[in-house]
Parts: sequence; C-alpha cells; structure tokens
Amino acid sequence: TSLSILIFCSAYLLGSISSAVLICRLFGLPDPRNTGSNNPGATNVLRIGGRFPAALVLIFDVLKGTLPVYLGYFLGLSPVSLGLVGLAACLGHIYPLYFNFKGGKGVATAIGAMLPLGWELSSLLLTCWLVMIFISGYSSLAAIVSVSLAPVITWFVKPDYTLPVTMLCLLIILRHKQNIIRLLNGQENKVWDKGRTKE
Ligand code: G3P
Repeated sequence: TSLSILIFCSAYLLGSISSAVLICRLFGLPDPRNTGSNNPGATNVLRIGGRFPAALVLIFDVLKGTLPVYLGYFLGLSPVSLGLVGLAACLGHIYPLYFNFKGGKGVATAIGAMLPLGWELSSLLLTCWLVMIFISGYSSLAAIVSVSLAPVITWFVKPDYTLPVTMLCLLIILRHKQNIIRLLNGQENKVWDKGRTKE
C-alpha cells in the first residue's frame, strides 16, 4: 500500500543520517570513514573518540531502526512489511543517500529494528553480544554471532517474525564480509585496537 511505501522511504531517509560522521564532526574528531577500521559506526567512534561520542552514535543508530518499525507497527503493518521497514532503515545506514552511499555495517540499526519484538529477544541478543565481546574482543564477531542467533530466538518468541528477522540478519552478515575475511586471517581490529590503514 502507499502507506507502507511512505514508511519504507522515511525509514531509508532516516537510516541515511550517518550519526558517526556527524557526531565526529561535532566533537572535532577525525572522520570515522578514514580512521581506525574506516567504518562509520559506534565501535569505530569508540576507538577514535572514546565512550561518550560512541554512546551517542549507538543510541542514534539504534533509534533509526526502532522508530520507523514502531511507527509501522502502530499503523498496522504486517510482520513482513515491518521487516521491510527494518531493512529499509538498515539499507539507509549501509548505503546512505546523503553520504555518497558509503555507510556502516547496520548492526545497531538492525538491533534497534528488532527491539519492538520484545524484551526476550533484545535481552538475549544483548547478553550474547556482551559475552562475545568479553571473550573475543571483536565487535564484528560479537555482532555476527548475535545476529545469527536472532532468527532462532525469534522462532521461539515471535514465530510470525522469523522471515523478516532472517532477511535483516542476512543483510548484516553479508555486510561483514571484509570483517569475516580479516577474522579468518587473524587481522581483525579488536574494539580497543586503534585500527589499521584502509585496505
Ligand atoms: O558494528 C560494526 C562492527 O560489527 C564492526 O566494526 O569498526 O570493528 O569494523 P569495526
């Protein structure tokens, strides 16, 4: 319907606001697209500027997923349409209209888009992510493992949403291709590593 299309477009346009780039500019920090891991996301802003700007990026990027999905939910969109709203928000984050289509990995925005599915999924994902960070120190690995578990958890807690959550999670995993290659080669940046120059 036209309402769904309007919400998809709004989600894409909101997702396209690269908070990592804007917050780094605001704090006088280097551009996260050319520093550290070269990824405009909360992890890399943590490397570049510390906890406060990273927390702001995280909150903003999570909300980019949560707000449009909640809006669609209250307007009565179906589970698959809500999944497409989440995808549109993540596609905005990954391929931002206002930043030459060069964006981040979509982890925070995807998790934000899944928050409306309830506390069970959110708390399990958060726990898994924290445990993986604690064990490995790799933000990418923590994201890949948590996101891979999301469809399975969703199957148990909100079965109607398994397909949309799977679509969202596949996008995030595919976007981590370079991270997966670096992990396999033992070259991945840990959360606290300052990163290496662009490959
Ligand atoms: O959320 C992005 C994370 O999965 C990887 O970030 O900066 O370590 O490539 P980074």
